Amino acid sequence: MDSFTGKLAVVTGGGSGMGRELARQLAAQGCSVAACDLNVAAVTDTAVTARPGAPDGVLVTGHACDVSDEAQVLRFRDELLEQHARDHVDLVFSNAGIGGGGSFVKDSREDWERTFATDWWGVYYCARAFLPLLIASGDGVLVNTSSLNGLWAALGPGMPNSAYATAKFAVRGFSEALIEDLRTNAPQVRVAVVIPGHVGTDIIANSLRARGLPAPEHMTDAQIEELIPPDAQAALISAGALPEGASADDLRQLLVRGNNDFRDKAPLSAADAAAIILDGVRSGAWRILVGEDAKMVDAKVRAKPEAAYDYAELFAGMAEDHSPSSP
Ligand SMILES: NC(=O)c1ccc[n+]([C@@H]2O[C@H](COP(=O)([O-])OP(=O)(O)OC[C@H]3O[C@@H](n4cnc5c(N)ncnc54)[C@H](O)[C@@H]3O)[C@@H](O)[C@H]2O)c1
Repeated sequence: MDSFTGKLAVVTGGGSGMGRELARQLAAQGCSVAACDLNVAAVTDTAVTARPGAPDGVLVTGHACDVSDEAQVLRFRDELLEQHARDHVDLVFSNAGIGGGGSFVKDSREDWERTFATDWWGVYYCARAFLPLLIASGDGVLVNTSSLNGLWAALGPGMPNSAYATAKFAVRGFSEALIEDLRTNAPQVRVAVVIPGHVGTDIIANSLRARGLPAPEHMTDAQIEELIPPDAQAALISAGALPEGASADDLRQLLVRGNNDFRDKAPLSAADAAAIILDGVRSGAWRILVGEDAKMVDAKVRAKPEAAYDYAELFAGMAEDHSPSSP
């Protein structure tokens, strides 16, 4: 596939970040797009703002869909085929994802399973729903988004990330396993796995939103205290991230700063990341590493697998600010 012109792409999580940029850039390159999101206002905005930058004949539609619910994925599929008047799709970007459920030991089972359901089952349900339509394309590409945490199941000391990493390892494993399966049984479709490092998006606030919480600046004191319980506060105080005797407002400001810094101080913007992903898909790559941090962790973990969770040894010789911080 050396051009997206005239194709139809499905983008999940199209309301923000990389999904929104994928939708915009695909549309600008002559590709019709059906984008879905949990946040229907956000994905409607993506559709409205992507259209003016697109050539004539390009249709961009926004759809409500929770990818962790198979019935909603099937309804999204039927809705987009009808709205685009097509009987196949050419590209599927399974991009929707959230963080949360970091600790299998301490976090609630509900949080853990919400993250796993979006990040793994969402990818699985979309592959089930859309594979026949990619086969019908005759030249289909399934693009699943994993993460740096699909190569390395850690964020660093004291920061467990178990639901996310488990799901992202599953996405990478599934995608790699599909390579031979598709080659053998559906050679008109190929699969690519996207492995981003830190990309500047609102994923922290959007992940809280997926839990039913408002943006950090609008959280009540009770919501803040529940989100950051006393033992987590104590750890933040001893790490110097919070003052002794921190108030709910200090915690709120910390969350607001955390989200803003994650978005604004990233080495790569969502637009740059989307451009790298689309270049990778066009070039036929099956493994699309996004960002120098993802490339670095990939090389380190492959070179020293036994040291993967001995951070000092894994990152020996590197400045601290070069250690990865992807969700
Ligand atoms: N930002 C990073 O640093 C980074 C790094 C590695 C991997 N990733 C992955 O890249 C993908 C895109 O992340 P982003 O950073 O652009 O995040 P983002 O929050 O900006 O965008 C993700 C979108 O997915 C939507 N979404 C969440 N749950 C959903 C569900 N159940 N159904 C449908 N839509 C849902 C959100 O509402 C949001 O609009 C995710 O899979 C994420 O895990 C991100």
